[in-house]
Amino acid sequence: MLDALNAPVAPRAVRRADYRPPEWQVPRIALDFDLDPTATRVRAVLEVERTGDHDAPLHLDGDGLEPLSITVDGAPAEWTATDRGISIALNGARHRIETEVLIHPERNTQLMGLYASGGLLCTQCEAEGFRRITFFPDRPDVLSRYSVRMTADKARFPVLLANGDPVGAGDLDGGRHWAAWDDPFPKPCYLFALVAGDLVANRDTFVTRSGREVALGIWVRSPDLAKTDHALAALKTSMRWDEDVYGREYDLDVFNIVAVDDFNFGAMENKGLNIFNSRYILADADTATDYDYDAVAAVVAHEYFHNWSGNRVTCRDWFQLSLKEGFTVYRDQSFSADQGSAAVKRIEDVRSLRAAQFPEDAGPLAHPVRPDAYLEISNFYTATIYNKGAEVIRMMATILGPEKFRAGSDLYFDRHDGTAATVEDFVCAMEDAGGVDLAQFRRWYSQAGTPRVSARLEHEAGSGRARLYLRQTVPPTPGQPTKDPMVVPLRIKLFGAETANALGSEQLVLLKDDEAEVAFETVTEPPVLSINRGFSAPVIVETDRGPAELAFLSAHDDDPFARYEAMQQLMLDTLVAAVRHGRADQAPVVEAVRNTLTDPRLDPAFVAEAVLLPSDSFIGDQLAVVDPEAIYQAREGLRRELGQTLVDHWRAAYEGARDNRFEYTPAAKGRRRLRTVSLGYIAASGAADASDLAFRQFEEADNMSDRQGALTTLVNSGGEEAREAALDIFYHRYAGNALVLDKWFSTQALSSRTDTLARVVELSNHRDFTLANPNRARALVGAFSVNQRAFNAEDGAGYRFVADQLIALDKLNPQTAAKLVPPLGRWRRFDEGRAKLMRAELERILRTPGLSKDMLEQVGKSLD
Ligand code: PHE
Ligand code: ZN
Repeated sequence: MLDALNAPVAPRAVRRADYRPPEWQVPRIALDFDLDPTATRVRAVLEVERTGDHDAPLHLDGDGLEPLSITVDGAPAEWTATDRGISIALNGARHRIETEVLIHPERNTQLMGLYASGGLLCTQCEAEGFRRITFFPDRPDVLSRYSVRMTADKARFPVLLANGDPVGAGDLDGGRHWAAWDDPFPKPCYLFALVAGDLVANRDTFVTRSGREVALGIWVRSPDLAKTDHALAALKTSMRWDEDVYGREYDLDVFNIVAVDDFNFGAMENKGLNIFNSRYILADADTATDYDYDAVAAVVAHEYFHNWSGNRVTCRDWFQLSLKEGFTVYRDQSFSADQGSAAVKRIEDVRSLRAAQFPEDAGPLAHPVRPDAYLEISNFYTATIYNKGAEVIRMMATILGPEKFRAGSDLYFDRHDGTAATVEDFVCAMEDAGGVDLAQFRRWYSQAGTPRVSARLEHEAGSGRARLYLRQTVPPTPGQPTKDPMVVPLRIKLFGAETANALGSEQLVLLKDDEAEVAFETVTEPPVLSINRGFSAPVIVETDRGPAELAFLSAHDDDPFARYEAMQQLMLDTLVAAVRHGRADQAPVVEAVRNTLTDPRLDPAFVAEAVLLPSDSFIGDQLAVVDPEAIYQAREGLRRELGQTLVDHWRAAYEGARDNRFEYTPAAKGRRRLRTVSLGYIAASGAADASDLAFRQFEEADNMSDRQGALTTLVNSGGEEAREAALDIFYHRYAGNALVLDKWFSTQALSSRTDTLARVVELSNHRDFTLANPNRARALVGAFSVNQRAFNAEDGAGYRFVADQLIALDKLNPQTAAKLVPPLGRWRRFDEGRAKLMRAELERILRTPGLSKDMLEQVGKSLD
């Protein structure tokens, strides 16, 4: 009895099946903020409307608010506190609710609601942060028109921004001033935003295709102004692209972006006022890598595209999250593909899908793209919702073809503009515009787990016929022990092993049953199978293709992704054999890499991707039991062999890719990438001059890609002296630049050296380390926990370190802490000794008094 009383109240699961439309709508809300970092007063006037014939009270969510007054139609309200906010019994169809509350931005370490970051005040409301600002029905299917007034100290907060268009501003007594903003578009409260601070803007204008002029501003602290040109250019390119490719025009007169240093995610699409983690805005050659530049453009595009896919059409409930996120990721991926090498972009996207989403789908946190239940919605901003969700959209685009897909998208926006929609609505629009039946295809939204497709090709030399035997299985996942077959769109082509000619054109095969056969005629020479070209389906393909066939495809396939894929499979098979048997025939990989390196027709950017070995973790994912040390040794062994045997080619590639001056173009990016990859192989060869070469690149670099590439090489394999000197120079050169210091932390946390854990523990006590800044926490703790070898040290010290950090971080910022749990939840993939140690740490976290529901959900599921 006592136990039960003392036990923390188990948080209630929210279920998709329980969805009910709102009983009250709030067509208008006026907000008045008296802004102050220690205590901000928020007055809200809500016009509420009963939605039907019922007598349900009005429920308003509230979290951590100090109510000062609550009135209904001007008279003190009779309200009762509930476990999630307040409830007010009302008898009319329409009422005016006024509330006044006190909140404390400076004490807000969760970074949800109104919080302080680097001297400014800003908000984050998705998913459920608005209830930490004022009492409101905090659900995405309540759409309101907002008017916002802010007053603040003019010296500290000269700039006051909110959603929509500015409608007034003025000075007040006592050094204060005010500003008012109106947003004409109804929106859910998760898209509300305000920012107050001492900011400057990089300004420009954009003329939409119908001729409206939009004022653009990227707001930062003044020292950062010079680093905003790239983001601004990306914004304008995105705005034009969405007009050209999706027919979507911007709809307000103003579009502002603000960069903040403390942010839980990448960025947020608040209507007309995007708020960004500064790492996705600030970029210049000296501080940002090419990867950073690309990420800035992709995230700027992503948030901008949300203006239609997310804001004009929003989500009915949070189970529909992938409706906006999957579609918007697909849109930003297509945008990026159009800006440079589409092949390299696809390779990068598939690599990150395999690094983050496949393990998620194979582990204890697996969930469908449209989940059925959650404890804490913040835990569902996952690779499955975002990246697998984007793959599901991509498959529909493949099945429909570009014209019909565009027609489906137009129909979707047309039908649902100004409303809160569902995944089902999207699929229906695609069916109606495309004239296709997606009934079975919908399983991609409801069934979790990565399907496996096995493919076996048989050739009958005499008759010229070939037959492809396909089989699919979908593995069991938590709560879904058995699965139905999926619709798997496979782009397939055959090549002749003798002539290297294509045997017929590419086919799109829709595998719908457990098994299928595909027949080919006039196969006049032994065929080689190219399958899942362009990664047309997010599945694991198993074939019986041997090293010779894979090497053949890596040289002759006319789909660049398939070429890359063949090389990866060849490398993977070799590495897995090396782990299993302690040795493997490395010659086919060496020859295939030599071929790729010396093929003058290939783009250096592609070459750099193709010659990279699969990561330690991806090798681990192929094995029943991950042996981190054996994997590391096998991979290093193959790297050394490639480095030594091809050392002249690496040196030639290294010299050939040298540029005189930094340029951010696809070609220059490709050369830089190939240069650093070659440097890595020269170092792996054990060449006596490798450390000097790296150090010279480090010192002479006029850009961060070259500098960080060299630093990584030095940290992993440089001599003691060169390594420490480079780290020291880097640290002092960038002291005070938080984003670059994050690289300094993460490069060390990702090091393959044996003393990495000791170094990471030391760094966790460094004066520049803080768990309060999510970027910094991720740079050290997050990076370390994906360092397969160091994190999984046999004595469990890596697990203990991460658990300690997560327990501490949960007290400040549960959302960010919970996102770092998955590596500890991978215990089933390891030997008994490690599994026990990992479980012990998860259990220790679970026993921590006052654990957040974010952590409770992630850790609890990880132990199940
Ligand atoms: N909606 C944001 C995006 O993907 C992500 C985000 C979620 C940001 C929750 C903050 C909080 O564009
Ligand atoms: Zn998004």
